[in-house]
Amino acid sequence: MDEREFHFTKHDFDKLRQLVNEHTGIKLSDHKQEMLYSRLSRRLRSLHLNSFASYYELLKSDEEEIVNFINAITTNLTAFFREAHHFTLLEQVLIPRLLAKNSASRKIRIWSAGCASGEEAYSIAMVIKEIMPSGWDVKILATDLDSSVVATGKLGIYTPEQVQKISKTRLKNWFRTIPATGQLQVNSELRSLITFKHLNLMHKWPMRGPFDIIFCRNVVIYFDKSTQKILFDRFANLLDDNGYLLIGHSENLFQLTIRFRLLKQTVYVKCQ
Ligand SMILES: C[S@@+](CC[C@H](N)C(=O)[O-])C[C@H]1O[C@@H](n2cnc3c(N)ncnc32)[C@H](O)[C@@H]1O
Repeated sequence: MDEREFHFTKHDFDKLRQLVNEHTGIKLSDHKQEMLYSRLSRRLRSLHLNSFASYYELLKSDEEEIVNFINAITTNLTAFFREAHHFTLLEQVLIPRLLAKNSASRKIRIWSAGCASGEEAYSIAMVIKEIMPSGWDVKILATDLDSSVVATGKLGIYTPEQVQKISKTRLKNWFRTIPATGQLQVNSELRSLITFKHLNLMHKWPMRGPFDIIFCRNVVIYFDKSTQKILFDRFANLLDDNGYLLIGHSENLFQLTIRFRLLKQTVYVKCQ
């Protein structure tokens, strides 16, 4: 007997995971049934629904609930300076190369695609601010499918636990403590470098580029290979010649595209 709060059949799971795939590109394998149950149960409870079948029916007609559905599905795990070797490389190799390459335009454009709650974009911004000479026009675009994390990123407010791995010097230079809550907010100088936007990577992109660097880390791992292939091709189209693509530690471009060459583990350069 199913003792759970809601009845959830394999048929419900199949229909809902199909909807997840259509809206996000995320492919849920068979073993994600429990995960889907626990993430969506909260939606059923707050909507006072008593079955997944009725939730599926609602999703077919309610655009607003689709937003909550997507936000419940996405995995937003992130951290400041996650995969720290990328930030060392940014500081010691990528930015120095771009300073030479773009010396005429004095412009650098970076995209954090699948930015979650903004820690990745703010980590990039800290490194940039610390090493860039003045007079350069630097912009970071940070986008995510999940509207709630984009809102967090825009605010730039984090708990003491979330910032605990950031050095004392950086905390002093780039954050201010909010006395009433003890939380920390990224200062306005750093925030002004970043534009946060809601963007589904599966849809049309409004930006024309070119970007010098794209960070798309720990995002494509949730997509199937054919979706990854299309996405990497689109990234190549939007990158400048010799632009850089940084992906997550468990991702790779093997047999997916010939438009990049490997610079270092999980760091690629667009081929001309
Ligand atoms: C695990 S987080 C990675 C965050 C950050 N890049 C990092 O490595 O720390 C994955 C993010 O990808 C986003 N995402 C998933 N599917 C997406 C899509 N189709 N378009 C845009 N973002 C998507 C999720 O909402 C989530 O915030």
